[in-house]
Amino acid sequence: MMSLKTFFVLAILMASAITLISATPSQEEEEEEAAATSLRGTSRFLAQTSQKSVRVVKTCDKYPSVCLAKGSAGPHCCQKKCVNLTTDRLNCGRCGKKCSYSKICCQGKCVSPMSNENHCGSCGNKCKKGSSCVYGMCSYA
Ligand SMILES: *[C@@H]1O[C@H](CO)[C@@H](O)[C@H](O)[C@H]1NC(C)=O
Repeated sequence: MMSLKTFFVLAILMASAITLISATPSQEEEEEEAAATSLRGTSRFLAQTSQKSVRVVKTCDKYPSVCLAKGSAGPHCCQKKCVNLTTDRLNCGRCGKKCSYSKICCQGKCVSPMSNENHCGSCGNKCKKGSSCVYGMCSYA
């Protein structure tokens, strides 16, 4: 009879085998192709590289560095998406921290731009001393 432990070990092995099967072929293929192309010439190599960029999708959960690339929405990774935790209303300060609908995310905190004296109307818009934030505008009444 199979013990529960053996079963789990087998299950894990199966899972990793499936992951390997689904993940490696393209990589192996690329390496083989790269090796082959160096013999065959540059034009095919160029065709390969452009094809490769379309085929391989690198998600930030596996490749955190993609969020640091140019054009990324932000340097942090939440649920396979690049975000900027400083300003993302759906991931404000940490992944999954949502700001309620009337609030915005400034420096990783949910604030009300209608009344916040440090973020009046928009992030970083500080009202001068003695003025208060009313409906998103610094008021000097
Ligand atoms: C994140 O957002 C803040 C505020 O807009 C900005 O200053 C900062 O450069 C952003 N970070 C990145 C890496 O995009």
